[in-house]
Amino acid sequence: MSIIFYLLLLSSCTSSVLSTDVNDGLVLLKIKEQLGNPQELSNWVEGFQFCGGLPYGSGNVECTSTGRVRFLGIQHIKGPAAPFPEAICNLTELQGLSLLSLYNLYGPIPSCVNQLSNLGLLNIQNTGLSSLPESLFLNHQKLTNLIVTSNVFSGSIPASLSTIPTLYYVDLTNNSLKGSIPPDLVHGQYTYLFLSDNRFTGEIPKSYQWLPLSVIDVRNNKLTGDPSFLFNKENILTIDLSHNNFEFDFSNVEISETLSYLQLGFNKIYGKIPQSIASTNRFFFLDLRDNKLCGEIPQRQDFPWQPSDASIFADNKCLCGSPLPPCYKAGPAP
Ligand SMILES: *[C@@H]1O[C@H](CO)[C@@H](O)[C@H](O)[C@H]1NC(C)=O
Ligand SMILES: *[C@@H]1O[C@H](CO)[C@@H](O)[C@H](O)[C@H]1NC(C)=O
Repeated sequence: MSIIFYLLLLSSCTSSVLSTDVNDGLVLLKIKEQLGNPQELSNWVEGFQFCGGLPYGSGNVECTSTGRVRFLGIQHIKGPAAPFPEAICNLTELQGLSLLSLYNLYGPIPSCVNQLSNLGLLNIQNTGLSSLPESLFLNHQKLTNLIVTSNVFSGSIPASLSTIPTLYYVDLTNNSLKGSIPPDLVHGQYTYLFLSDNRFTGEIPKSYQWLPLSVIDVRNNKLTGDPSFLFNKENILTIDLSHNNFEFDFSNVEISETLSYLQLGFNKIYGKIPQSIASTNRFFFLDLRDNKLCGEIPQRQDFPWQPSDASIFADNKCLCGSPLPPCYKAGPAP
């Protein structure tokens, strides 16, 4: 009995010794060196108290109770041009990584990042990073939030991204990504998908009609087809399809009562405006500008269209009625 107890104690001691053997402080110094020793990280010096002891600045570190780095944020560094610091891949307990406004960081995200299997948040914004390896997300079974905006990523969305069961928030806004939108990108009860300002082509996958989407923003891509199956989804809040090549008949589309933002401007949508637009009785942002719509604009009971609403119907084929000029009605034949 007591022998087993001591063996257990010994093995737990051994494993804790092993884990503190890994010195994340040295890894942070290596990261600093790989970033070209930028001035902004001058308080990262040998033996520094990186766990919570640093004032908020360009480098933020949070630790686990065993002294491993759990969150690393590096931001606003004007240092020399540098590739992604691979030493980050040694922070194997990392749950959150945030690299913001590191304009001089260039090249690919290295595939060693898939060693960081505890990552829940990956947030990379305003860098010069330019490619996502196909295998990047093979081990990220805990990733919930992927925010990769305003970088220069090209190529298509790695297939491995569709394999993450926990991922519910994806923001890839403002890169140079192309190819089609993969099915099954997000999962869970409330999901958010921001893909605007890229070069995506093809259709929004039909499978998205079964996803519990809350927000979908694909503004300013080169998408085609008929995604109107999105409009009547349960719990949908925001849809932005503007500045694409969507082409479908709007006449009989049903619109969910939960939808409060519908931006369809600058597409090739045709037919009439459906009556369900008028029955939506909550605060509702709508923009139908620059499509091929025709016919009489449905009138709302509770919030009549105002003259200032004319622009949301502008530049269509032949819309008429308030807030645009009245429809021409042929009088009785003389
Ligand atoms: C990172 O890990 C590699 C191999 O896993 C090791 O060779 C290297 O020394 C580590 N770097 C640091 C700074 O700990
Ligand atoms: C898009 O990203 C580029 C850098 O790649 C940046 O210069 C630009 O300001 C970003 N645009 C927006 C609207 O954020």
